[in-house]
Amino acid sequence: MIMKQIPTMRLRILWLALLCAVVGGMRAERHVMIVPEPVSVEENGETFAWPDAVGVYVSARFQQAAGVSAAHTQQMLNQVVGADAYTVAKAQAQVVVELDKTVAAEAYRLKVGRKGVEIKASGLAGCYYALQTLLQLFPAEVQATRTPAGATVPGVRIYDVPRYAWRGFMLDESRHFFGVKEVKRVLDLMARYKLNRFHWHLTDDQGWRIQIMRLPRLVTVGSWRNSKKLTRKGEQPDHTQYGGYYTQDQLRDIVAYAKARCIEIVPEVDMPGHSQAAIASYPDLLACAPGPFEVYTGMAINPNVMNTARTTSVEFAKAVIDELIGIFPYGYIHLGGDECPTRFWEIDYEHRLKLFNMGSKNFHDLQTNFYAQLVEHMRRKPASEQRRFIFWNESLSGNPAHLGNAAIMVWTDVDNAVNDAVSKGFPVILSPQIPFYINRRQSTRADEPDTQGQGNETLEAVYNYQPPQPQATQAAADVIGVQANCWTEFIDNPQTLEYLLLPRLAAVAETAWTPQVARAYDRFLPRAKHEADFYQAAGYAFGRAAFE
Ligand code: ACM
Repeated sequence: MIMKQIPTMRLRILWLALLCAVVGGMRAERHVMIVPEPVSVEENGETFAWPDAVGVYVSARFQQAAGVSAAHTQQMLNQVVGADAYTVAKAQAQVVVELDKTVAAEAYRLKVGRKGVEIKASGLAGCYYALQTLLQLFPAEVQATRTPAGATVPGVRIYDVPRYAWRGFMLDESRHFFGVKEVKRVLDLMARYKLNRFHWHLTDDQGWRIQIMRLPRLVTVGSWRNSKKLTRKGEQPDHTQYGGYYTQDQLRDIVAYAKARCIEIVPEVDMPGHSQAAIASYPDLLACAPGPFEVYTGMAINPNVMNTARTTSVEFAKAVIDELIGIFPYGYIHLGGDECPTRFWEIDYEHRLKLFNMGSKNFHDLQTNFYAQLVEHMRRKPASEQRRFIFWNESLSGNPAHLGNAAIMVWTDVDNAVNDAVSKGFPVILSPQIPFYINRRQSTRADEPDTQGQGNETLEAVYNYQPPQPQATQAAADVIGVQANCWTEFIDNPQTLEYLLLPRLAAVAETAWTPQVARAYDRFLPRAKHEADFYQAAGYAFGRAAFE
């Protein structure tokens, strides 16, 4: 009777309030803290005591579908969790890995109960991410030391699948060089957060960091500059000989390290702008203007760009690309394309003549015409060597028909650039400067490092970024993913690098992985705080401002 007197609308509100209370209550009781937040987590009240050595069963069907042996899967368990694993029959196993063809490529189901762990996935990446989630169920100290024997894991049932296929992080190693050990520490963090694309900014005005056998001066000249500190207007270089580069053996080692963590590496060689280190190495091939040239010690955008009127620049780029293909066995190569001033081309007769012959008055077409020749070079390669190019969004200022089947990485004027790219038929990766350049200050505290920004790119601001939906076609596939970038003009040591990345990389990962409806900063913050225990135990520097 009473029910009848309550109008339907109010009933709905009551139900909603009840639902919120139940869901809120369930959330308050959640003990497990996982970043990025999985699609669904249920705790079952059981616990599993991890043994000294763990018996593992990997089904033949999983091995076949994932294209790996049981031994490889066990090694993965050892690598992620630190387990001492041995093979047993299913009935005796404490960790069972099986095929579930119904879940997507990187998705997984994870069940932990009294008797052990069950993982179901359709391929290797899903299994790997289940193991990363499993690791996060252990106490922070165990996660850091990877010594699970004797530790207790809470019982859970988890289903998980990523929001985006491209979950990226970019490190600039041109402005400052960090070396193999630190890059592997960064890759470990990416793997923890289920990030799967390491965009490696390996060349710029201030240093060339990748050995190219056919162009040896790139590392004998281009990798070294006459100041560790990069100067702002009015500052003087410190005249310290500074630099470094990766040999091809080191690069292959890092590629293998990343592959074992389900991370693809996307190398970037930024051309024809941001290329004074290359120009200083090979002025005869690349320069627009008379020298002398040296690897740039300033920070500002350098007007000295490659000569796009000469075939020697294109031949140079082809030689670099050919060696990149041999080192990086993945689908993409990034050719840069940002902030490329046309000033030197505008005053040069050869460039003006070339533009006239192209039937264009847009000097940016000289940049894209340079790319068109590289697109054609790529098109002629056998299928196994084909790579898709990525360009920063400024490349759309030139002729889009020159860019082939590229993807566009959008960092500036984001909403307009996304719509521009999508309307011209390009898929996009979102790496908005604000707030995803996580080299910027993360708080207004006086002890923040001397770096860019006013402290507005807080953990909360990074977390609350919502990727725009393109208006042009509205196809979900137009946005293939998101990415945070770390430019290192001001960052000259691993501690500052880690301090600025953490905990913001965790917030980026949740944007990349977790469905938008399940994201809320107030539910993320306690998990980010929990991550700080791991950072502390693992010896990572991290920002504390968000936790105060
Ligand atoms: C960029 O920040 N120049 C891509």
